[in-house]
Amino acid sequence: MSDTTPQPEDGFYVLVTGANSGLGFAICCRLIDEFLHTRPQSQTLVLIITTRDTRKGTDTVARLQKHLQNVRRKAERSFLGISMLLHRRIQFRQEILDLTSISSVQRHAERLLNSTPKLNAAILNAGIGGWEGLDWLTAIYTLLTDWVHAVTYPSYKVSGVGWLTKPQIPASGNTEKPEEPPLGEVFCANVFGHYLLCHYLAPLLSAHKADEGTVGRIIWTSSLEAYAHTFSLHDFQGLASSMPYEASKRLTDILALTAELPSTAPFVARYLSSNRPLSVSKSKSSMSNANKNTIKPKIYLTHPGICSTGIMPLHHLLTYLMTLAFYIARWLGSQWHGVTAWNGACAPAWVALAQQNTLDAMEEREGKGKWGSATDWWGKERVERTEVEGWGWGGVVGERIRKKGRRRGVKDLTERDRKQFEELGRDCWKEMEQLREEWEARLAAARVGEDLG
Ligand SMILES: NC(=O)c1ccc[n+]([C@@H]2O[C@H](COP(=O)([O-])OP(=O)(O)OC[C@H]3O[C@@H](n4cnc5c(N)ncnc54)[C@H](OP(=O)(O)O)[C@@H]3O)[C@@H](O)[C@H]2O)c1
Repeated sequence: MSDTTPQPEDGFYVLVTGANSGLGFAICCRLIDEFLHTRPQSQTLVLIITTRDTRKGTDTVARLQKHLQNVRRKAERSFLGISMLLHRRIQFRQEILDLTSISSVQRHAERLLNSTPKLNAAILNAGIGGWEGLDWLTAIYTLLTDWVHAVTYPSYKVSGVGWLTKPQIPASGNTEKPEEPPLGEVFCANVFGHYLLCHYLAPLLSAHKADEGTVGRIIWTSSLEAYAHTFSLHDFQGLASSMPYEASKRLTDILALTAELPSTAPFVARYLSSNRPLSVSKSKSSMSNANKNTIKPKIYLTHPGICSTGIMPLHHLLTYLMTLAFYIARWLGSQWHGVTAWNGACAPAWVALAQQNTLDAMEEREGKGKWGSATDWWGKERVERTEVEGWGWGGVVGERIRKKGRRRGVKDLTERDRKQFEELGRDCWKEMEQLREEWEARLAAARVGEDLG
């Protein structure tokens, strides 16, 4: 679909970042299938996909169109009552987004603010591992001695240390380029880029009427590898860390799970505020969206379990072996080895499409959770709450302990842990807001992105 295609006012708008491969593509396919099967025929899904360049975006939309045709053929064969006017029920838009460039994030947000009436969900899927290879000795030893643990919580991935994004402020003509502080690449791709994006998109995520019975959803993608010990406030971006990916996922968990607690409220309110002109946007359209603001978006946390995708750069022969290792782990009893990206997409797609009262009731009953894609022995997928160190399954001391899928050595939640997690959440939100404001001021002073509107 081109940018000139009309945007249905009553459409269901979902943004998926990093849609060209792995989980991102599978999330789009699942959204299409589940939307067609569960939503009234009068509703349209507008899928806004982001990729890093136009070629990848065009190719992704072509592959999604093909998927849609397959759905149509299957429906015709089985006489399912899915509307044949699929092209009206599913629309695609493609956008360019590089999360390691703040001005790219701002440009993307600006385009959406000017072209989109609202966003029902933003699925923050894109990300990088930042790994350089494997420690083969440890890999072989841990596989032979403890197979399931070794492929669920691997200790043999070798990360790059101190990777930085390209400079955010380009050198220009004869003016001297201002100094800028380092910005961690893994931190920026996995957390900060998305964080900024949702701040700028808050007017669209808030543009829901009170009687719609739903709110905009910010859906983060975390991991089982979000270990507590990998994250430190003193190395907030993981620049000195030998596990920056895991640190970025731990930070994701902390931000998402503490977003509704009283201690983070002042920071979250500022972050999700859409009642003021965006620093990035001066356009009339974004101002009018801001004025339509009715309900604040909600932040959700998901993870895909473990799937065989290209996130770990491996020779294709090793990719086959890795996939086989994942299947064996599932057959040995691991509920987290969905293996296929389709299975991994289960939790994020479910959180995006679930009825608001279902999500609210689950959180009301058992607390705010990390929703993971799990499977049974046969690969039949389901959504499972996942334990987070210092938070448990729902941030409730004394909650039911789920033995299956639990990481070895994790302790039951205590009052003290819960309190510390909340304090950590406040510190992290404070730091993120400060970083956001500093970078916005820095870019504004250097007049980066002045051509936005
Ligand atoms: N696979 C797993 O088992 C697993 C487990 C836990 C969590 N996850 C999470 O799931 C998400 C998707 O991972 P995946 O396994 O599907 O990996 P993947 O196949 O490598 O997909 C990553 C996607 O992110 C995009 N991306 C990377 N850097 C970007 C940037 N700077 N700006 C914009 N887009 C960028 C990639 O685009 P390009 O193609 O242009 O690089 C690609 O579309 C990640 O957040 C990952 O941490 C995966």
